[in-house]
Parts: sequence; structure tokens; C-alpha cells
Amino acid sequence: MPLDKLFATPIFHVDLPEPARVLIEHQYNEAKEAIEMNLNEGTWCDNIRTTFVSGENDFIERYNLFGLETFTSPVVKYFHDELFKSGEVKLFESWINYQGKHQHQRQHTHHGSIISAVYYLKTNGNDGNITFHPPVSGMELKDPSGDEWTYSMVSYPPKEGRLFVFPSWVPHSVGDNMTDDTRISIAMNYR
Ligand SMILES: [Fe+2]
Repeated sequence: MPLDKLFATPIFHVDLPEPARVLIEHQYNEAKEAIEMNLNEGTWCDNIRTTFVSGENDFIERYNLFGLETFTSPVVKYFHDELFKSGEVKLFESWINYQGKHQHQRQHTHHGSIISAVYYLKTNGNDGNITFHPPVSGMELKDPSGDEWTYSMVSYPPKEGRLFVFPSWVPHSVGDNMTDDTRISIAMNYR
């Protein structure tokens, strides 16, 4: 009997190699003082600190974090080619998030973008999982058993140096940071 697995949701993650992580951290440290003077609070009714300002999200360009773009764009290209087979996407938005104690991000999508990515610059691994939710409403199942047919959400712990790539329309959220450390991540949108 044929079984069609329809409407799959691709979520890709990769750990960047050590030289990439060192370069990105070096470029971040060079700009750290200027970045931290430009953090905003309450941008999305969430309580994290971020450089996000609608229509002005040129974080990588503004603070010379080109190392991150150098390593992220080929991964996004691979992901895009696997999904769409033709055409191309380019980085058009990037911003940094500082998530301190008791801070979180509510469920959201990245409207106006095709592929999104997030890179974990600083994390202790316990400062809030990223959770992906079903992109189709009505999929919230009462008894998730943890397989591809029944789960109603999937969470991944953050890991320093790890890059997640996912379609921008996939709803996602970030859990409360219950630790005393501030987690730092950089988000990127491609279209
Ligand atoms: Fe997001």
C-alpha cells in the first residue's frame, strides 16, 4: 500500500568548524562595545535585548561580521537548492539577540523572508531551547509520542558554534533562560 509523506518541514543544523567560530568571535569582539550600545528592549513584546529595528537590520554589514556571512551563505545555498532546485537567495537582514535570565521569545515566523538562520555565538547549552511548531494549523496533537507523525513541536538545545537553517514560515519560539548567563545569537534572513 503506498504511503505518501506530505508537507515535510526541513530543519537543518550544522556545527561550524573551529576556524570559522574563532573568526566570528574575533569579529564580534572587535565590535562588541558598539553593538552593546545599540541594543533595544521590547521590540516584539518579548523581553530580550536586540539590535532588531524593522527595516534596518544590517547587523553583519554595520559591525563587520563578514566571517559569519562567509560560512552561513554556502549552507543556506545548499538548503535552498535542496528545497527549491532553482533560483537563489541572498542575505538581506541580520540582527543580534541577547537573552538574559527569565527572557524568552514567543512563537513567531520571519515574515517577508524565505530562509532564516540562527547562529549561537554564546550559550551554556541550558539557556533556552529553540522550539519549532507545526506550520499547518490544527496539527497540535494531544499525545505526542515523539515520531514524525505525532509530534506537536520539536525542541533543540542551543550549542555554541551551531547554525540552524529553516524555512522562514516555520513558527518557532525560544524558551525562558533560567540560568544566570546571557545567551547571544545572531539571526539572518535570506530571500
Ligand atoms: Fe525567529
